[in-house]
Amino acid sequence: MAKAKDKAGPKKKPRALVTRGAGFVGSHLCERLLAEGYGVVCMDNLITGSFENVAPFLAHEAAFEYIDHDLSTYIDVPGELDEVYHFASPASPADFGRIPIEILKTGSLGTHNSLELALAKGARFSSPPPRRSTATRSCTRSARTTGAT
Ligand SMILES: NC(=O)c1ccc[n+]([C@@H]2O[C@H](COP(=O)([O-])OP(=O)(O)OC[C@H]3O[C@@H](n4cnc5c(N)ncnc54)[C@H](O)[C@@H]3O)[C@@H](O)[C@H]2O)c1
Repeated sequence: MAKAKDKAGPKKKPRALVTRGAGFVGSHLCERLLAEGYGVVCMDNLITGSFENVAPFLAHEAAFEYIDHDLSTYIDVPGELDEVYHFASPASPADFGRIPIEILKTGSLGTHNSLELALAKGARFSSPPPRRSTATRSCTRSARTTGAT
């Protein structure tokens, strides 16, 4: 008699969407997820990122898909998604003056569209804090630790 474990069959490989996956943080996350056995969909429009960051994954990983798309417009990803990783705000202050409207649209509409997609797919949504709030939190924590005001 087969054990209950055998009846369930092999565990389904999880599939994740990484928005802005061709950027600095996103491409490292894609690499990590692939190493952990995920199917990874990377969505980016390369406005500040580089295709070179993800090209090696396309060449060597059958589990990796790249979609060239602007997140501030409607997003659709065919198939199931278990997790959506969304990088909610631009990273480099150098870009703030160069592409301010694109940044605002990506931060607002892009986040909205990513959340809608996660909701529609029943996927877990995760978005790291922007660099500035991370820094602010660290400063607050160290000020408390050191007793500084
Ligand atoms: N780099 C850090 O040290 C650091 C630290 C903490 C938090 N963060 C946060 O992580 C996030 C990503 O930072 P990063 O350093 O990877 O930035 P990055 O500029 O390298 O990557 C951002 C990516 O988003 C893409 N992109 C921008 N607008 C888009 C749009 N409308 N549609 C599709 N793709 C779009 C860009 O092409 C790029 O590939 C930011 O929210 C940043 O604040 C970064």
